[in-house]
Amino acid sequence: MFKAPVYRKDCVCGKKKYNVDRVVGGEDAIQNEFPWIAAVFKKDPAHRGWVHNYHCGASLIATKWLVTAAHCRYEKWDGSLAKIELERFLIVLGDHNVKRRKETDIEISRNVEQFIAYPRYKKTKYNYDIALIKLDKGVNLLVYTPVCLPGDGWIFRGRSQVYGWGRDESGMNSAFLQKVTVPIVDNRVCRGAAMRSTVEKNREITDDMMCAGKVGKDACRGDSGGPMSMGLPHFRRHHFLVGVVSWGEGCAKTEFFGVYSRVSYFVDWIQETMATNGGARFCSYRKKYRRRPRVEVTLIPLE
Ligand code: ARG
Repeated sequence: MFKAPVYRKDCVCGKKKYNVDRVVGGEDAIQNEFPWIAAVFKKDPAHRGWVHNYHCGASLIATKWLVTAAHCRYEKWDGSLAKIELERFLIVLGDHNVKRRKETDIEISRNVEQFIAYPRYKKTKYNYDIALIKLDKGVNLLVYTPVCLPGDGWIFRGRSQVYGWGRDESGMNSAFLQKVTVPIVDNRVCRGAAMRSTVEKNREITDDMMCAGKVGKDACRGDSGGPMSMGLPHFRRHHFLVGVVSWGEGCAKTEFFGVYSRVSYFVDWIQETMATNGGARFCSYRKKYRRRPRVEVTLIPLE
């Protein structure tokens, strides 16, 4: 079943909530600054009952849909990679301190209805590391502003922002969302750096990947699946999803960079997959109408 995407008229994507411009070398984000970031928790057996452990990041792109890394579907178990059952995931939006429950008044959680990895992804490889998460229930896009999706094949240059709850320079996962600005590095430069560093030779930098970072500025373990985004000057600085945190070789080292899945390589697949799995409601990057219409219109039916 194919459903054309619906672009709502009353919301915009990619608008930061507070307009100021660990991750390693980062600083605390402002609460709700990036309203599209989600924390992916997994339920683990504990002493008594269960606990939810922070597992990955993700980005909200439509009412029910998030983008994350395909490798977030797995956990290390007995020395190998085991698939995590859907029931064990919990997606939290509006979070700021992942070690506290409900410390913001907009914190909400959802279950996962579908986790769709890019079909060519293999858990033993590093490329095609992208996936879509479909929530069991939609969220209000006026509160949880989704990030804007780039067009097919868009190339981003310059400085981008990456943010997450992963490890900081102390090697600890951070409680509060951290953000850092990283320069995007050309794939050719990145390949050269990979060759000169200790990166295993089978970890090739392919066209579906991109690199970013510099000494002391990088994503790190635990930031996986989370967004790297950029406020585009041509689009009133609305944020577009440029990359998905995928892998690295240590963190923030001199010889190498952080590696991300290149979102513009996958947008056609993203659109198609949402369309064939119940459809999606988006916000576009600008308000089309001054008044807030109650109706929703279909703007771009896909082929
Ligand atoms: N795979 C890592 C994770 O599980 C992400 C590593 C990103 N590393 C980096 N140096 N940029 O979170």
